[in-house]
Amino acid sequence: MTVAGEIGAHVAAARGRDPATANASTVQILATWPGVQAVLAHRIAHRLHQQSVPLIPLAISYLARAITGIEIHPGARIGQGFFIDHGAGVVVGETTEIGDDVTLYQGVTLGGTGFQAGKRHPTVEDNVTIGSGAKLLGPIEVGHGAKVGANSVVVEDVPPCTTVVGNPGHPVKVEGRKVEGPDADWIHLPDPVQDAVKSLSARIKELEGQVAELSGNENRGGGESDPDPRRGRSSAGG
Ligand SMILES: CC(C)(COP(=O)(O)OP(=O)(O)OC[C@H]1O[C@@H](n2cnc3c(N)ncnc32)[C@H](O)[C@@H]1OP(=O)(O)O)[C@@H](O)C(=O)NCCC(=O)NCCS
Repeated sequence: MTVAGEIGAHVAAARGRDPATANASTVQILATWPGVQAVLAHRIAHRLHQQSVPLIPLAISYLARAITGIEIHPGARIGQGFFIDHGAGVVVGETTEIGDDVTLYQGVTLGGTGFQAGKRHPTVEDNVTIGSGAKLLGPIEVGHGAKVGANSVVVEDVPPCTTVVGNPGHPVKVEGRKVEGPDADWIHLPDPVQDAVKSLSARIKELEGQVAELSGNENRGGGESDPDPRRGRSSAGG
């Protein structure tokens, strides 16, 4: 794409997704929309990064951050029609991959979870919207058309066309419909450890009964094994 085409595409993305552009000229958008400036700066930085030019790509990224408050590592791969609204506090890590027509709001982090090397940042497919303050951490995949609610913390893959909210991020809508059924109940989650302890406890009780029967001492059977490890002795006393 030509430079003019690139600039035009990013201005068009801003016009398409930010109602505040209604009365703004193209020059105004280029001069005062930090999201547009940061992405255009990234296009140059990324091109130079791909050609293994030293220092300059990071210097461009650093300057863009100083001016816009948006930090995009030169290594991040970003598709067409990318738009960052407002922008301050956005961080896009080195191994992030972003598809076409993705929208981010201020305060979004596409980051890693630790100090590991290699692919460690999210992959975001086409037409995804990520709300303000959301943190997407690790080499997760966010499927096309997904929405991430403001202030969510997402550390697992998000299926396509799914809306996730909260911390940890969990689905509340799939293809526009609310999630219903047992999978929607995030309060009463199954506890496999407790289930295993209960099962072992029941088995021990059964064996103790058999031992007591064989030894002719019924009273020693039954023990005190509590099927619920979280429940202590009754505070009612007696
Ligand atoms: C996540 C979002 C896209 C959901 O939009 P939606 O598809 O219309 O979904 P709904 O509004 O019907 O919400 C579905 C459920 O999620 C809850 N929810 C929505 N957004 C949430 C959020 N950010 N955090 C926690 N819960 C949220 C709703 O309360 C609702 O809960 P309920 O089913 O118990 O009633 C939207 O709420 C959002 O966060 N957008 C980001 C906007 C933004 O960052 N704007 C910045 C402008 S400067």
